[in-house]
Amino acid sequence: MKIKTESSTKKKTQLLCGFVLENTNKVLGLGTFDSKTASSINQSLKDMEGKMGRLSIIPVVGKKSAQRILLAGLGKKENLTKDTIRFVSGKIAQKARELKLKEFSIIVPPSFVTEQNSSVSQIIEGSKMALYKFDKFKAEKAENSPDLTIIISKSKKILQTIKTAQIVADGAIFTKSIANLPPNECTPTTLANFAKTVSKKNKMKCTVISKSELKKRGFGGITAVGQGSKNEPKLIILEHNHGSRNEKPIVLVGKAVTFDTGGISLKPGEKMDEMKFDKCGGCTVLGIMKAVSELRLPINVVGIIPSVENMPGGESYRPGDIIKLYNGKTAEILNTDAEGRLILADALAYGEKHYSPKAIIDFATLTGACIIALGTNVAGMVSNNEKLTKKINESSKRTTEEVWELPLNQDYMDMIKSEVADMKNIGIGRAAGTITAAAFLRNAIEDTPWIHIDIAGVAWTQIATKEKSYNPKGATGFGVRLILDYLQNL
Ligand code: BES
Ligand code: ZN
Ligand code: ZN
Repeated sequence: MKIKTESSTKKKTQLLCGFVLENTNKVLGLGTFDSKTASSINQSLKDMEGKMGRLSIIPVVGKKSAQRILLAGLGKKENLTKDTIRFVSGKIAQKARELKLKEFSIIVPPSFVTEQNSSVSQIIEGSKMALYKFDKFKAEKAENSPDLTIIISKSKKILQTIKTAQIVADGAIFTKSIANLPPNECTPTTLANFAKTVSKKNKMKCTVISKSELKKRGFGGITAVGQGSKNEPKLIILEHNHGSRNEKPIVLVGKAVTFDTGGISLKPGEKMDEMKFDKCGGCTVLGIMKAVSELRLPINVVGIIPSVENMPGGESYRPGDIIKLYNGKTAEILNTDAEGRLILADALAYGEKHYSPKAIIDFATLTGACIIALGTNVAGMVSNNEKLTKKINESSKRTTEEVWELPLNQDYMDMIKSEVADMKNIGIGRAAGTITAAAFLRNAIEDTPWIHIDIAGVAWTQIATKEKSYNPKGATGFGVRLILDYLQNL
């Protein structure tokens, strides 16, 4: 999908799209038409009432610049959010593709463009993300994506916003496209190769630490979890250094278990296929790093992705094992399915030790308990720092990638104390599973400002996921837009 801009509706287009607010009988920003077309528009406006998500197409007869007009309902003005625009733009783009069009145009009404803000980012994110489809393994592919013309009064700022929005959307789409890959086609080595390709293209530094080196250097969590699979573990590190030399970086860490069978504590068969999405945290970090480098953000950012496959077998780690993590603390393994915290603990400790970062943010499909607590539209968040939490909450509001903070006090830390090691890798029964997992991570770092985001419910579409045009079935790329907003507003 190519995107360009025009400042008027005079150019030829196969589909000219305008937004309609509920009960207004007016298409925002649409010019005047001959009386026949105008009366069709009026009739359609009455029929669709501007209801949210409704689309109505009006053919235009005669030699006009637009072949068809599409009215897109936004719902009531008082309920209008940025996400509405994202969602409705996604529906418009999908309609244009369904009609097999080569291109379509969306009018951005002047009332949507203010000094601080414009809706143009949401229009781009919505339409680009809605057109992504995971069809790599199907003979029958989705129709080609139509190109988009944005009709808007141009300024330098608007053009910059448009460029940024495309990079952000592409970052989320990149995350979706690798997160959707099946486990036989995406191993830790595959992910490392993606990281290398992205780094090369965008001039980032990329380091991949392999099994023997991980073992030698004391990454006890990653090596233990990875030892049951013939697909060897990798620790992938990407560095974007565009800040000043002595400026501390932001470190992003993402869990990338390319398949989580549970290991010796084997998961039940039902929906086990979904555990290909257990790499989503790592894929989110990859998508963010790709966009950060394309945006050339003037900051230092490091992405760290511990990647393993959690398999049962003769070489697997077992319940009862005691392992030593990268920071020297020992962990008693009581359930091999609680593997994410082990690989993350190594990566977090490494990130803190080697980069003395300003902040560490980690993403992980860490606990089923998070789905019980918050469902499938809001991610869990645990932190040791109020300022950082506030910043992430602000970005969450702006991007509609929703997060909700859960508490972490000493009582929760006590719940992972072990009789025989420094910690155990599970809490007490089913109590506060998301928080006890976070408590384990908290033990991996000293006092660096840190946020853990549990994306178990939101990383891919599940039964209770709210339907959104821009998140078709499969991985959602959750966190990419959230963190790019945070990094752009540091
Ligand atoms: N990857 C899973 C968590 C998960 C489960 C995410 C379902 C999304 C959907 C994780 O490794 C895991 O299995 N966690 C266990 C922890 C338990 C053994 C303490 C869980 O949540 O059951
Ligand atoms: Zn697991
Ligand atoms: Zn897992």
